[in-house]
Amino acid sequence: MTWGLDGKLALVTGGAGGIGEEICFALAESGARVVLHDLQNAPRASVCERINAAGFAHEVTTTFGDLADLDALQKDVVSLVAEIGPVSVLVNNAAINPRGPIETYALEDFVRVQAINAHAAFVLSQAVMPGMRKAGGAIVNIGSQTLAGGVPDMVPYVSAKGALLGLTRSLAREAGPYGVRVNMVSPGAIPTDLERRVWADQLARVEAEVVAKQSLKFRGSARDVANAVLFLASEKSRFITGHELNVNGGWHMG
Ligand SMILES: NC(=O)c1ccc[n+]([C@@H]2O[C@H](COP(=O)([O-])OP(=O)(O)OC[C@H]3O[C@@H](n4cnc5c(N)ncnc54)[C@H](O)[C@@H]3O)[C@@H](O)[C@H]2O)c1
Repeated sequence: MTWGLDGKLALVTGGAGGIGEEICFALAESGARVVLHDLQNAPRASVCERINAAGFAHEVTTTFGDLADLDALQKDVVSLVAEIGPVSVLVNNAAINPRGPIETYALEDFVRVQAINAHAAFVLSQAVMPGMRKAGGAIVNIGSQTLAGGVPDMVPYVSAKGALLGLTRSLAREAGPYGVRVNMVSPGAIPTDLERRVWADQLARVEAEVVAKQSLKFRGSARDVANAVLFLASEKSRFITGHELNVNGGWHMG
């Protein structure tokens, strides 16, 4: 069986770097028509250039958007679908991860994290659902291992990941009868710009601590996460829905 994604339209948020970039690459490699959504202009263009240099069947295209602006997002995705056709694969990958004790967040900071990390996934899922109901489809939400055990100083981020897991399970139940699968991939600690930004001055310590906690004694990569997303987006996982797949080297199990 092939991936079953040839010519299928895949929309990936946060595709301009880190894990999202590798998800775009893996989907393009499997034959999908990928639309990369992100806020950042320069990285979007260079990521497309890098992937398209590989000469896959369909060129990756890119669209600008700020997931915090939910009204604009709703309009943009409806126009996108009208213009280039129904979305078969939606990957809700983008997230922000501010840190600090609970009392340091203004309410609007908390709300902004929920908008980008969780509410945008609702808006996008809603917008692609009419097309998916007719022709089938797969939604993959990117969660986080932080939800499994909780992490201090990350209340807005972890709360949003909890909302995303609820969306995953509830929508999987609702959309399954129409041939639409909804799953979550929850990475452990993956070295990306996000990690480098957050732990800038303590990278060596973090690296050693991560490997000590994992069962597998090497760091995972963005491609490891992308491979799991590809599997859940593809026909190879046709009997799997409502599932949270941990990609964490055996750190948290369960
Ligand atoms: N890196 C890790 O260790 C790790 C661990 C667990 C979960 N995750 C999850 O994996 C996903 C990707 O993480 P990453 O490490 O690649 O992050 P990253 O910061 O490297 O990339 C996130 C992307 O999202 C985009 N983005 C941010 N805000 C946006 C907005 N308002 N509108 C549109 N795009 C926006 C950024 O421009 C960026 O390209 C996230 O959901 C994250 O929570 C990552």
